[in-house]
Amino acid sequence: MNKKIGIDKNVVNNSQPLAHLNNLYSIRRCTVHDLEGVIAVNERELPEDYPYFFYKNILDNFGDAFLVAVSPSNEIIGYIMWRVEKTPSLNSLRLIHKGHLVSIAVDSHHRRKGIATALLTYSMPIIKKYNICEYVLEVRVSNQPAINLYKKFNFQVHSIKKCYYRDGENAYYMIKKVS
Ligand code: ACO
Ligand code: ZN
Repeated sequence: MNKKIGIDKNVVNNSQPLAHLNNLYSIRRCTVHDLEGVIAVNERELPEDYPYFFYKNILDNFGDAFLVAVSPSNEIIGYIMWRVEKTPSLNSLRLIHKGHLVSIAVDSHHRRKGIATALLTYSMPIIKKYNICEYVLEVRVSNQPAINLYKKFNFQVHSIKKCYYRDGENAYYMIKKVS
């Protein structure tokens, strides 16, 4: 399979596939060579764009949980990225760690095949190792596909963040406690 999708030998240590989906897609860690493809998927599929250094910073700091989905023609068709945030706990001065789902997207021609499910399934145990007590994310209140996806993973709507997006749309703040 590696040979078939032609993974770059120089990066193979970091990018051994974690999984194959229907012998079609592979899920592996993102490398610096993939960032261009990740940014292309983001720009096609989401209105929230980030500068290159934002992706690079996440890759440098939380690269083990930054995964990509790759097609048989070696094209990046999906990604997921997380970061760990420290916030004060509500009932003590302790800082608690949260795993923040920064962004996930799958190319529109490859959806509904379980790729987002695989990206979440393989990245959540990795980000959990940073001693987080919960997984958190924001999602547009109109984004039913993504909301359904997160509910399948037992995320619950915790609150609404008013005017969270630049166009004024509200976000659901969703949380899943680490068990
Ligand atoms: N309508 C309703 N529910 C959906 C849809 C849809 N069109 N697509 C996915 N789901 C839900 C379903 O519950 C589905 O399970 P099922 O197929 O058993 O019914 C579940 O999600 C898992 O589906 P996958 O096939 O794993 O998801 P996919 O690979 O298609 O990717 C995603 C889902 C990432 C939401 C995709 O639609 C996408 O890239 N959308 C645009 C980008 C986006 O909105 N990203 C999330 C922004 S919020 C954030 O990043 C924190
Ligand atoms: Zn496409």
